[in-house]
Amino acid sequence: ASTLGAAAAEKGRYFGAAVAANHLGESQYASTLNTEFNSVTPENEMKWDAVESSRNSFNFGAADQIVNHAQSRGMKVRGHTLVWHSQLPGWVSGLGTSDLRSAMNNHITTVMQHYKGKIHSWDVVNEAYQDGNSGARRSSPFQDKLGNGFIEEAFRTARAADPNAKLCYNDYNTDGQNAKSNAVYNMVKDFKARGVPIDCVGFQSHFNSNSPVPSDYQQNLQRFADLGVDVQITELDIEGSGTAQADNYRRVVQACLAVSRCTGITVWGVTDKYSWRASGTPLLFDSNYNKKPAYNAVLTALGGT
Ligand code: G3I
Repeated sequence: ASTLGAAAAEKGRYFGAAVAANHLGESQYASTLNTEFNSVTPENEMKWDAVESSRNSFNFGAADQIVNHAQSRGMKVRGHTLVWHSQLPGWVSGLGTSDLRSAMNNHITTVMQHYKGKIHSWDVVNEAYQDGNSGARRSSPFQDKLGNGFIEEAFRTARAADPNAKLCYNDYNTDGQNAKSNAVYNMVKDFKARGVPIDCVGFQSHFNSNSPVPSDYQQNLQRFADLGVDVQITELDIEGSGTAQADNYRRVVQACLAVSRCTGITVWGVTDKYSWRASGTPLLFDSNYNKKPAYNAVLTALGGT
């Protein structure tokens, strides 16, 4: 295979990219996406502020554009994200407890039913834990008003809304074993023990010199898989350039391939031109859409040529 998507498919995985609807009209952007990737994640278009900026008034325009683009080309779609403290419209934070509960459940149900049958995996809850050594939950309207049970409630609502979608918990700085990943691990273990629906854990994998690819990356993915969930690398990008960057990308791909329940990898953008890391070069294609050494490392690690 000579593309990332085709090579990953031969290994039983998908290889995706985060996509912004407003770049789909740029021919090099679209042709790179269409040629190389077989899964997409809307980078911002499915977030709460994009789809429900005022209460119970839903706008799926930009997200639909991405989903239609993907579906008409046989690409899978990851849903990102239903319940998150960021990119949350002000009206949500202003609600009292019982209104917030019904707004959360209504949001999950309406968005998931709109895309029923079109999304392979949903990030149901995103980034609910704090960084650092506490292993504690992060303060958010959901945490502060609904308490620890909000994650479980969100997953139960999500299962009812689209029983065929894989339901993921997604976070960053959980890529190696540490207090934060231990807290997520314990939550998943508890959910599996009590029959709370959860199918997958997303490891964002935003790496840079302060947060390098952990030495126990594969081991950490494996311990989650051993709980009986799939694992996915959901927002991969790695700062740097040249051989060092390529080596890090290779390690990530090799770790996923070594874990049978690691079902796919998504990089957080198509090209350095539009990376969320404004001045960075963390992706596989440079800002002129040339393949970088990291691209070749990934393709080779996937068994492609
Ligand atoms: O759409 C508005 C536009 O109307 C306005 O004029 C402009 C002015 O700033 O802002 C635009 O919104 C920006 C939006 O991206 C769309 O481009 C926001 O300011 C900007 O903050 C937002 O950044 C996104 C960020 O999430 C916000 O949290 C990034 O694109 C996106 O890559 C990033 O993705 C997150 C994942 O969802 C979760 N994990 C971490 C990851 C990286 O931060």
